[in-house]
Amino acid sequence: MGSFESDMRAVALRILVVLLSLVLWLFSLIPADGVAVAADRSVGRNVFLQNCAACHVHGVAQAPRVNSPAEWEPRLASGRQSMMNSVLRGKGGMPPKGGNASISDAQAIAALDYIVSRVLELEHEAHAAERRQ
Ligand code: HEC
Repeated sequence: MGSFESDMRAVALRILVVLLSLVLWLFSLIPADGVAVAADRSVGRNVFLQNCAACHVHGVAQAPRVNSPAEWEPRLASGRQSMMNSVLRGKGGMPPKGGNASISDAQAIAALDYIVSRVLELEHEAHAAERRQ
């Protein structure tokens, strides 16, 4: 049987171990966050391919084409909130959520964010190419 003192030491040690693992766990959240962002983009990409690409790759019904940043400029200028409303409620030739009511709002918005990130990426590449000339 241990004395009261050594029992207290064991308790203190256990608290220390718990605190240390808490700190390690907090640190582990930092890279986990980066992974979550990457996962979102691939979710958005999949939703896009399945529900939006049919119109937004070749410009069906005058849909702005994902690979043509110029066609997105006025839409980007209108802001994310306005584009979100269009995606969720529909606009012109685009039905709500591109016509697939079974996807969630979050999925539709992930697809929107994928489109925007793709357009910005292409714009960035185009500017970089201009600077190289
Ligand atoms: C049936 C064809 C079709 C599908 C499917 C479709 N869109 Fe569209 N989308 C359009 C057309 C057409 C427009 C142009 C509407 C206008 O400005 O009158 C448009 C416009 C947009 C805009 C710009 C909205 C604005 O405010 O100017 C966004 C963003 C967009 N679509 C995202 C999506 C997303 C995300 C999906 C998939 C979930 C999707 N679209 C599926 C046809 C489609």
